[in-house]
Amino acid sequence: MMKKTLTVLSLSLGLLLPLSTFAKNNVVVVATGGTIAGAGASSTNSATYTAAKVPVDDLLKAVPQIQNLANVTGVQALQVASESITDKELLTIARKVNELVKKPDVNGVVITHGTDTLEETAYFLSLTVHTDKPIVVVGSMRPPSALSADGPLNLYSAVALAAADNAKAKGVFVLMNDDIFAARDVTKTINIHTNGFASQWGALGTLVEGKTYWFRNVAKRFNNASEFNIENIQGDALPLVQIVYGSGNMLPDAYKAYAKAGAKAIIHAGTGNGSVAKNIVPTLNELQKQGVQIIRSSRVPQGFVLRNAEQPDDQYNWVVAHDLNPQKAKLLAALALTKTRDAKEIQRMFWEY
Ligand code: DGL
Repeated sequence: MMKKTLTVLSLSLGLLLPLSTFAKNNVVVVATGGTIAGAGASSTNSATYTAAKVPVDDLLKAVPQIQNLANVTGVQALQVASESITDKELLTIARKVNELVKKPDVNGVVITHGTDTLEETAYFLSLTVHTDKPIVVVGSMRPPSALSADGPLNLYSAVALAAADNAKAKGVFVLMNDDIFAARDVTKTINIHTNGFASQWGALGTLVEGKTYWFRNVAKRFNNASEFNIENIQGDALPLVQIVYGSGNMLPDAYKAYAKAGAKAIIHAGTGNGSVAKNIVPTLNELQKQGVQIIRSSRVPQGFVLRNAEQPDDQYNWVVAHDLNPQKAKLLAALALTKTRDAKEIQRMFWEY
């Protein structure tokens, strides 16, 4: 109805804007850097390049076809390789996206991002930005300077998804290699191929030639259903949470060092079912008593951590990360700690998000 009204208005006022302008949604591309904005020395450098070089306007100019999908404008929020994103940059991205989705004339947002921590940013947006509008995080595995670069088509598809009315209220997406993933369970599984992202629960759908095909929905809380809100987070840092990677011959020193550095929770990326070596248990229990929340995740990419299986989590007052990988558990734990230090409340959040 709105588009029809605007079209009639433009006719009556004799505005010069083409009618098609009002027939399309408005999408803003928020650029943050990464390989999708990278530059290699030659077209055969598909893996050797410098990330975060190409500015957002050049990214958009390189894919003029996106203007057929939506009225697309760009914002350069950052220009970084994503492995270097700290809480400060993450909060900057979330605040910018939140500001944009609150604008009535913005229908969808695309974030171009390095693929290394793309899944974390997407999940954080899913937990903290209250909106029904499509938010799509996209990257590329090859720089635009490479033969068969994947970035241009990924960007085209991401804009198509952000402009799609049927993508509303479905959560934050990661669009890579024609797949539409849910922010909460997508992860980077291959670090050198264009099919580098996957979810153990499968994609939500796929996007081909600008058209969306949906096959499932997210079963967990996101966006408007979240108890977290970027508008309630002050400053440039979240409560400190760190990850310790499990293996054989573990030493307790890393956990103690993180606690000493101020960590309020430690994600144990354990072997198997988030297992804890018996020589480590006393240290984790001591830290738990000191108020550092212990959260068991797993280094194993699929499955989920069972509570009270090999480890008596109820007795130790530990939390299990369920199916969240360590890096996502770290973000949810940080947000949980903005609200509570109670282990049972934190565990509820890990069941629900
Ligand atoms: N430095 C990595 C990053 O910015 C490059 C990987 C990529 O963007 O695909 O995440």
